[in-house]
Amino acid sequence: MRALVWNKPHSMTVEDVEDARVDEPTDAVIRLTTAGICGSDLHMLEGRAPVEPGTVLGHENMGIVESVGSAVRTVKEGDRVVLPFNISCGFCFNCTRGFTNSCLTTNPKAHSGGFGYTGMGPHRGGQAELVRIPYADFNCEKLPGSPHDQYEDDFLLLSDVFPTGLHATKQAHVRAGDTVAIFGAGPVGLLTALSASLRGASEIYVVDSVQSRLDKVKEIEGATPVNFSDGDPVEQIIDLREPHRRSVQDLRPGSGGKMPGVMCGIDAVGYEAWGRDSVGGAQDPSQVVDDVIRVTNPTGHVSLIGVYFPSDPGGVDENAKQGRLTVPLGQAWNKGLSIEMGQAPVKQYNVYLRDLILAGRAKPSFIVSHRLALEEGPDAYEKFDQRAPGYTKVLLKP
Ligand SMILES: NC(=O)c1ccc[n+]([C@@H]2O[C@H](COP(=O)([O-])OP(=O)(O)OC[C@H]3O[C@@H](n4cnc5c(N)ncnc54)[C@H](O)[C@@H]3O)[C@@H](O)[C@H]2O)c1
Ligand SMILES: [Zn+2]
Ligand SMILES: [Zn+2]
Repeated sequence: MRALVWNKPHSMTVEDVEDARVDEPTDAVIRLTTAGICGSDLHMLEGRAPVEPGTVLGHENMGIVESVGSAVRTVKEGDRVVLPFNISCGFCFNCTRGFTNSCLTTNPKAHSGGFGYTGMGPHRGGQAELVRIPYADFNCEKLPGSPHDQYEDDFLLLSDVFPTGLHATKQAHVRAGDTVAIFGAGPVGLLTALSASLRGASEIYVVDSVQSRLDKVKEIEGATPVNFSDGDPVEQIIDLREPHRRSVQDLRPGSGGKMPGVMCGIDAVGYEAWGRDSVGGAQDPSQVVDDVIRVTNPTGHVSLIGVYFPSDPGGVDENAKQGRLTVPLGQAWNKGLSIEMGQAPVKQYNVYLRDLILAGRAKPSFIVSHRLALEEGPDAYEKFDQRAPGYTKVLLKP
């Protein structure tokens, strides 16, 4: 089968590799109809997350079931399915409590299994013609319709970024009427904003510097773009909030100026953040954590959905190389903020979001900018990595 293979940093090729096959009775193999390229794949592209040469990447997978093992009960040949990026068993201590992001049996070396991702076990990814699905009964989410219908791209986003966006808002405790600031207008940031809107947030600010991504923000009900190349985004959000504060917050006793920011602050950027004065120049891995803590009001909630790794070979200094960052903990403590973080447990959300799509209440594919053949993958990786104008979300069609 053809597959997109990682060779070394910034070197990916489409090659013939051994076909994916049923190895265990609980496996299925699917033939991919769509596979996404995720912002998380870029950490590997750049060598900022160590990968074995020859690894087939791809954790955003959907397609048609090609074959199933003898123990598979609920999934059959010809079914249309989407897979969570996490691979989980359904029966370990963490899975039984819903934490499929931290499965204890699908990764021999650590907690947490996943498709085609460094540190997430020996599973090949789906940027290929075929992919093997462990514990098919538990991991396959069935979809109605047929390949390449009007929902294909919406359904693909159920594998990762739409559930991840919803999880980001859950970690930030977003409720109806809440005020929300989201850093990063990549696929995750945009679908976090959509999720905040679906949960009824009253004000949503989304920070980035890539204009084509900020333009997408305007398509989300209640969301306002903030360009950090125009100045400190925290100050900009506080200024933008001024009329709302005057009309609402100042009616509350004692608030005058003490709650200038938002109640929910979300980092959808992670450790590869640009520093304040160096768009496209030097990175500052703690820039966004710093901003999110600053913009969140006393008693508010912070959600770190962007990735932070325990090691980063390309880190800006020795501490960053070991995932040790300097953050304003004192300020966070003084404000009494909650801080939640980590990988999204996709299975907690994907079935509900599928039904929301089918009900016509959400169309997440508005973020999709490119639909390309597998052979165009290596070039698309580079363009997406450069945040080239218009490259918001790339889907491959194997
Ligand atoms: N927690 C999870 O389960 C999960 C799942 C998927 C992705 N992720 C992570 O989410 C993050 C975002 O991924 P993505 O797919 O949206 O792609 P992405 O990396 O393209 O998006 C990041 C965006 O942040 C912007 N940015 C950079 N520095 C900034 C700053 N200082 N302030 C504001 N914006 C800044 C970039 O211009 C870019 O548009 C990545 O770290 C990815 O690994 C986490
Ligand atoms: Zn991802
Ligand atoms: Zn498990």
